[in-house]
Amino acid sequence: MQTWLRRKDIDQVTVHEEGRRLVPTLSWPHLVALGIGAIVGTGIYTLIGVAANLAGPGVLISFLVAGVVCACAALAYAEMATLMPAAGSAYTYSYAVLGEAIAWVVGWSLILEYTLVVSTVAVGWSGYAVGFLKGAGIDVPLAISVGSHSGGLINLPAILITWVVAGLLMAGTRESATLNAVLVVAKLIALAVFVAIALPAFDASNLHPFMPHGFTESLGADGKKYGVMAAAAIIFFAFYGFDAISTAAEETKNPGRNLSIGIVGSMVGCTLIYMLVALAAVGAMHYTTFGQSPEPLALIMRELGHGAAAKVVAAAAVIALPTVLLAFFYGQSRIFFVMARDGLLPRSLSKVGKRGTPVAITVFTALVTSALAGVARLDEIAALANAGTLVAFVAVSVCMLVLRKRDPHRPRVFRAPLAWVIGPVAILGCAYLFSSLPTKTQLWCVVWNAFGLLVYLAYARRNSVLAKGVNA
Ligand code: ALA
Repeated sequence: MQTWLRRKDIDQVTVHEEGRRLVPTLSWPHLVALGIGAIVGTGIYTLIGVAANLAGPGVLISFLVAGVVCACAALAYAEMATLMPAAGSAYTYSYAVLGEAIAWVVGWSLILEYTLVVSTVAVGWSGYAVGFLKGAGIDVPLAISVGSHSGGLINLPAILITWVVAGLLMAGTRESATLNAVLVVAKLIALAVFVAIALPAFDASNLHPFMPHGFTESLGADGKKYGVMAAAAIIFFAFYGFDAISTAAEETKNPGRNLSIGIVGSMVGCTLIYMLVALAAVGAMHYTTFGQSPEPLALIMRELGHGAAAKVVAAAAVIALPTVLLAFFYGQSRIFFVMARDGLLPRSLSKVGKRGTPVAITVFTALVTSALAGVARLDEIAALANAGTLVAFVAVSVCMLVLRKRDPHRPRVFRAPLAWVIGPVAILGCAYLFSSLPTKTQLWCVVWNAFGLLVYLAYARRNSVLAKGVNA
């Protein structure tokens, strides 16, 4: 067999050497909390404004389109995660189904996704934290609160929050998952307060014109892509995170049951919450009022005359955004960990510490993401994170379909309903969303993966554990 087509044996995917095995400590409430913790974040709190600006009130359809695509992908994830409850998610499934080279591209794209989401949310958190401190009378100097793109030097709060989360993860998965559950409740309460106040202020005239920039993307005078689909490609950011749960598969007790509840439950729950929040937002106020705001939900509360509620929403964002960081940080360190265990990245990185957590890789991840968070621009890295995620979603959906054909009788703890409908919807939907992303983002994604393929050819292909005939 061609080296780039070599595959892992599905039955061996969950068997690992002593000292390179993660400890199963999580059950479904942890996973639902991890899921909602990873999903509800910068997307609904901040990007809802950016998306409304691109689509108008038609942003409701953008939410629906992104939600449907993600729900289909989530079902494919649930089927694959229960078939292969091993760390590494999309990367591991691709390795067992599509071969090493495609697995590498998927793993490399996941690194892009997780790194950029961690960095993006760290930068977003920093913005809220600096504003929050300002309200409390503490002025953080511009030089250490934003990168050079916004007139500062370095984004110190973003770097700090990244290291705090890294510390939590190194202290042990279960402890951080429990803390995560408490923070998840805080942000859900804030969104409930928002809906309870904004929905009664619904005014149908705010929905006109419904799609001022049309449905498919159209180029604006500023060179940016506008329209319902362009907005869907951005608001897609708000929906993912459930894939971070599947990276916890190896650490899940009774994965067959707990993973499907965790993935599907958190996805469906979040889609419902988002539709409500979006409907409340565009109904309560004309989108042009909040479309440009860095804190659209708080602004709507203030404009409606509810200053205290605005503070609750803002405070919840500061408290809750770290849950997104936590989940993606967790996913990132696990992707590195599994790729290193497979020999595609230096193997020394896959040693597990005393508490069953991969310490070396967590420190390495913190170094990279905090360095990026210190200097990068929020909107650009968010779009690029979407690009990496779309690649992974396509791969998982393809894996599900290929395996249904190749190995139809393998027992499946969770069978995605109507696989031959939801699989193609996920694949084509992701492709359409990718085509609606900014052109620059698409180019960066191609450049990143071209670079990745060079690393594969120069290093990974030769050092692959599979190439040496050792079972990872
Ligand atoms: N879905 C996550 C968020 O919106 C990435 O922050």
